[in-house]
Parts: sequence; C-alpha cells; structure tokens
Amino acid sequence: MAAKIISLGHTKPTRKISNQYFVEMGLDTSDEWIKERTGIHSRYFTNNEKASSDLGYEAAINCLDNANLKSSAIDLIIVATSTPDHNGFPSTACLIQEKLKCPNIPAFDISAACSGFVYALSTAEGFLATKKYSNILVIGVDCLSKITNMEDRGTCILFGDGAGAALLSQSDTIDEGILLSTINANGSLANILAVPKGGSKHPFNETIAKEKSHFIEMDGQSVFKQAIKLVVNEIKQSLLSVNLTPPDIDYLICHQANQRILDKICQNLSIPLEKSITNIHKFGNTSAASIPLAMSEFHNQTGFKKGDIIVLAGFGAGFTWGITIIKW
Ligand code: ACO
Repeated sequence: MAAKIISLGHTKPTRKISNQYFVEMGLDTSDEWIKERTGIHSRYFTNNEKASSDLGYEAAINCLDNANLKSSAIDLIIVATSTPDHNGFPSTACLIQEKLKCPNIPAFDISAACSGFVYALSTAEGFLATKKYSNILVIGVDCLSKITNMEDRGTCILFGDGAGAALLSQSDTIDEGILLSTINANGSLANILAVPKGGSKHPFNETIAKEKSHFIEMDGQSVFKQAIKLVVNEIKQSLLSVNLTPPDIDYLICHQANQRILDKICQNLSIPLEKSITNIHKFGNTSAASIPLAMSEFHNQTGFKKGDIIVLAGFGAGFTWGITIIKW
C-alpha cells in the first residue's frame, strides 16, 4: 500500500500586487527588470486582518469540498509554514484544527521553509504507513509579505502569500500514489537565506526593529546556484531508485522561486519546459504554499490523469530540499 493524494485545494489573498506597486513605493526597480530576472508579473499580499491560519483554513475547506468530505474525516493535521500566526506557540496547525472544528486529533507544524510541503508529505507518508491514520490533511501556507523588508528591492519583489492543501490516505495498491519521497538538509548553508534576528538568539528589540534584521535576508545568487545543483541531482538519483528516468516525467512541479531556476532545472534534466507546471508569474514565491498551490490550480484547470508521473521538488532556507515522486 502507498500513500495517495485524494484531494487538493488552494486559496490566495484578495489583494493583488503588481510590479508597478514597488516602483510607486519609491524602490529603484522596474516592471521590466522584475519580469525578466524572475518571471513574476504579480503576487498577492494578505491584509492586516488575515494570518497563515486563515489562509490555511480556506485551502483546507477547498480541499475537503473537492473530496466531498467533512472535517470529521481528518485524523491528523500537518502544517508547513515559516510564518506561523505566533512566534513559538500555539502552532498554526492547532489554530487550523480549531477553525475546522475537528478536536482531539494531533496537529503540528513543520519548519522547512520553501521545502516545507515536501517535508510534510514525507512525514504524512510515514504516519500513514503506521496504519493508525486514515486521512491526513497536509497544508503548505505562508504569508512572507509579513516578514519581508519592503525597502529591500532584492527580496520584496519576489515573495507573495498563499496556501495549498492536500488530503492523503492509503491507496489499495502499491502501483499508485507516492512512489518515493526524499528530504534533505545542509545546515552549513543556513546563512544564505535567513531571518537573522527576532528569535531566541537575538530576541526582538528596538535596535532590531531599526535595522530591520527581523526580515528575510538572502544571498540570491547562492540560493539560485544551490537550488539548481541540489534539485537536479536529487531528481536524477530519486528517479533511478524507482526505475524511472527524466523522460518518464509527465509533470514537474518545482518550488516557484524564480522562472529562470525552473527553466534551468528542466534544461539540466533535458525535459521540455512544457512539462514544468508554473504559476510564478501570478503568485511570486509563496514558500511552503507554492507547490500545493501550483498542483491544485493545475488539477482544477487541466486535471492530472491516472498513471501520470508527477515529480514535486522543494528547496529553500536551511538549506533544505526534497523530492516527491507520485504516480497519479
Ligand atoms: N530591481 C532592479 N535591480 C535589482 C533588483 C530589483 N528588484 N534586485 C537586485 N537588483 C540589482 C542588484 O542590486 C544588482 O545591481 P549591481 O549590479 O549594481 O550590484 C543587479 O540587480 C544584479 O543583481 P543580482 O543579485 O546579480 O541579480 P540576479 O540576476 O541574481 O537576480 C534574484 C536576483 C532575482 C534575487 C535571483 O538571484 C534569484 O532569484 N535568486 C534565487 C532566490 C530564491 O530562489 N529565493 C527563494 C528561495 S526559497 C525560500 O526558502 C524562501
């Protein structure tokens, strides 16, 4: 028996932000630069009233509706996020559990930045293998706009907010569902993408607020290079271990960080760009939400077919990365 995604869902905030917004805010950037260097045309920001638990809840409801199931069917909730409602606790998963009104089931968060969704899928796969759980709700949600320095043109143009959800259960056969999931980390690269201060090492204070070091800081070029190298290698190795090769991939869904990264990964795997599902032009980089959002949107519009080989590839701060190979 294998773990299988039985439903998908997603949501986005209502506030659409164009590239021109940053120019009007006084940043030294342009619509042309952003489109050419990142592929991003717009993104969505939450307003002050909404937090990750709200978006996560909306994606979960969409996912349950698509499965025609009630929240009482869920017996475990795993939420991947780097922007929890609260620093520390309670977890965003517990807040979503309360909104869904499904008490007395376990709920916890996973912190693996933009790899969070593939980390959460791999965790859910392990829980399903124990046979103690039947329907596991996995949510990828982030509101990176809330931890981004809107005066830093190198980062603020990249990120957006959103949420995606997947419901996993056991398949009756081993010939469908998750064929393989891998997760990895290299903490020696922790400094290339970080929120340097405001945590337990440097608790938030006035100096931190002034220097804005509680926002995302990134060495964009290092992230760019590591992402391509690690993801391409991981996909090749992972496919081999389930007797597949890159041409067998029907759809590749990478973390939506930069269109140039996505194109380069396809080139290095020698697969056509059409096999890569992308929505970065509309949503920007939504971190843990980007893979389920792209999956759910594509499934709504086009639909995966039985037997499709789908490869999910996450990468992000930590440095973390991971692959999920699915036979739909
Ligand atoms: N508008 C105009 N110019 C800009 C902007 C901007 N928004 N941002 C940077 N520049 C300038 C730089 O200051 C630099 O100017 P200089 O030559 O005078 O010094 C010039 O453009 C080139 O800068 P680079 O950093 O070399 O630009 P690059 O082509 O590498 O693009 C980018 C930058 C888009 C950030 C790219 O490196 C990238 O996408 N990296 C990967 C980022 C990523 O994937 N992050 C998310 C990881 S997932 C997670 O865990 C959150």
